[in-house]
Amino acid sequence: MTKGRIFSGMQPSGKFHLGNYMGALENWVKLQHEYECFFSIVDWHALTSSYEDTSKIPERIHEMALDWLSAGLDPERNVIFVQSHVKEHAELHLLLSMMTPLSWLERVPTYKDKLQQLGVQGKDINTYGFLGYPELMTADIILYKADIIPVGEDQLPHLELSREIVRRFNNLYQPIFPEPKPSLSKSAILPGIDGRKMSKSYGNEIPFAASPDELRARVRLMVTDPNRVKRTDLGNPDVCTVYTFHKIFNAEQSNEIAQSCRQATIGCVDCKKCLADKMVNNLADMHVRRQELEKNPGRVKEILVYGGERARVVAAKTMEEVRQAMNLA
Ligand code: AMP
Ligand code: TRP
Repeated sequence: MTKGRIFSGMQPSGKFHLGNYMGALENWVKLQHEYECFFSIVDWHALTSSYEDTSKIPERIHEMALDWLSAGLDPERNVIFVQSHVKEHAELHLLLSMMTPLSWLERVPTYKDKLQQLGVQGKDINTYGFLGYPELMTADIILYKADIIPVGEDQLPHLELSREIVRRFNNLYQPIFPEPKPSLSKSAILPGIDGRKMSKSYGNEIPFAASPDELRARVRLMVTDPNRVKRTDLGNPDVCTVYTFHKIFNAEQSNEIAQSCRQATIGCVDCKKCLADKMVNNLADMHVRRQELEKNPGRVKEILVYGGERARVVAAKTMEEVRQAMNLA
């Protein structure tokens, strides 16, 4: 017996980085032992804000599957699939869109924020699809009647809306769907090499798939205490990104590192080298798994096809109930 059903998804919008791993995947890997889990690479969601050039989608889906599998998600234990392989997501999205008041979608805080933010970058996402982003997310979740949704804090308004849509559906037709509850990841936001939140859009990321040499090169570029100019200057670890990483990847030595930094008995170059060694070591198993999988793209494809088939069985059953409830059967 498991505790319940989990659904979560991630957009295949580019390179998966260490922030994504620490903030989401590491948690999913733990959850897979306690819950029945559905994890989806949500390619239709990626189109909501980037629809012009679709040429990289297949490659990005493949890369994301490699990252998830090498991070330790088990394709037997979980249902790992691509959203667009299960057309029921589109059907449920359409039906939900009929009963969702426009004002509910327009007042989602991330909607106006992102519209404006991307507008500044010259991207026009004043589209029907972008407005419907949380509608599609709701369809993803309730198609599997998932009750627990592990997400980052930024997704909470979307889940709030999902619950409203579920209540409306259950009241109007039949009480088919449970209300999905968020489960926030406990890990802190991982900074990037410039000290801001690690994010693809800042170019400060450390790719999860980085080779040991690439990883060392990224660590060498990390910002340190700006007031520690010379090797003999006393440092302040509390403002140093390298130290933040030590606390995460080298917890057992981090007090010693902080003290050595304050007393200038260790320089930034050696401190970074020590961190890089630890990180390379901690991530080694996952890198080996990734390299093995990279040699076998056919296997990754098979896993996604298999996941799609399993997801479709559940999705088709839910859609039968939905059509029945709405007199569309
Ligand atoms: P995104 O790449 O922003 O779509 O995020 C995908 C998932 O990774 C979400 O669950 C985020 O909360 C998480 N995530 C992204 N960046 C970071 C970060 N720098 N630190 C921790 N978690 C992150
Ligand atoms: N919106 C989520 C994100 O950007 C991705 C996502 C799509 C999702 N559908 C979902 C997350 C359903 C949880 C459940 O992170």
